[in-house]
Amino acid sequence: MNSDIPLQLLGGLTAREFLRDYWQKKPLLIRQAIPDFESPIDADELAGLALEEEVESRLVIEHGERPWELRRGPFAEDEFSKLPEKEWTLLVQAVDQFVPEVSELLENFRFLPSWRVDDVMISFAAPGGSVGPHFDNYDVFLLQGHGKRNWKIGQMCDSESPLLQHADLRILAEFHETEEWVLEPGDMLYLPPRLAHCGVAVDNCMTYSVGFRAPSAAEVLTHFTDFLSQFLTDEERYTDADAKPAVDPHQIQHDALDRLKSLLAEHMSDERLLLTWFGQYMTEPRYPELVVGPEDVEEEDFLAALQDGAVLIRNPSARLAWSEVDDDLLLFASGQSRYLPGKLRELLKLICAADALHADNLGEWLTDEDGRSLLCELVKQGSLGFADE
Ligand code: SIN
Ligand code: CO
Repeated sequence: MNSDIPLQLLGGLTAREFLRDYWQKKPLLIRQAIPDFESPIDADELAGLALEEEVESRLVIEHGERPWELRRGPFAEDEFSKLPEKEWTLLVQAVDQFVPEVSELLENFRFLPSWRVDDVMISFAAPGGSVGPHFDNYDVFLLQGHGKRNWKIGQMCDSESPLLQHADLRILAEFHETEEWVLEPGDMLYLPPRLAHCGVAVDNCMTYSVGFRAPSAAEVLTHFTDFLSQFLTDEERYTDADAKPAVDPHQIQHDALDRLKSLLAEHMSDERLLLTWFGQYMTEPRYPELVVGPEDVEEEDFLAALQDGAVLIRNPSARLAWSEVDDDLLLFASGQSRYLPGKLRELLKLICAADALHADNLGEWLTDEDGRSLLCELVKQGSLGFADE
């Protein structure tokens, strides 16, 4: 995509300008980011999702059984009818995995890598509803979907920022307001990580939050070293074949640290392994139980189905990305990786980008043995599946 075209979504900024001046740095209010936006789902449909076992949802009731009561879904239908008239919020995670029209919204954000996107959460709030002043550790685009919401932003926070005593919610004890806006449908507010914010519903309102994934340094280190250690043998150890006689046998000298540093550096700088781990980690599905393939698929039947007009679509819970290292290609699919020959480059791009794969757009790839077997593997793994007629 051309990153120098002004985008309505970014209030007329180009993707390049937005990334340079705002992304991860400062907030941006965009009036009519999506002009005349109409939410593809209404409050009843959102509440309906929150009844489902596989959907992650929460209710925050400001004056519930205790202040800022948090209830976790799935909910029973009659719970909604017992809610107060005002000051509560229903939040439903990953609606993009359940409602295709919500997933389509993500097309607007393709100036960012798709593997950085986490999910689209949708909240419905009764008048006065809010989840309290707080900060998130991730970037977020808050798109107003229905009704009006008052957003206040405040100070930059960190793990030292004082919080209210609350078992489940991280509500800020202090909020130093710097700006305030009322957002209407189609308006959007971008917030960088750790900026204090508080949204209060003016009337019955729905807000879409496009959230991002960014592993913490602790996660990177823990998970990458776990991954790496699978490839190491017990013989690979701290060695000191260059040791000199100890001056004081009880002292750990800095030459020991230098040896440790080179042991770490040797393994940590393995680019192939780092890439493999990172791609797997960033494509791990939010709900792995929703990415399961059929028990067995015969390549012959699979091919016949496609030739008969069947359409393959990405499992909405699957995540795909690709990369290259030396002359090899890597396909990451829902937490797994495959090294593939360079000739499959265009197929990988098609698999990651296309809404639907069928005999027409797959064309020649169906006659390529590697291409065919890759598609079939992805069906077996559950990342791709045949669309219902
Ligand atoms: C909400 O939609 O009520 C909360 C979204 C947020 O503040 O991150
Ligand atoms: Co937030």
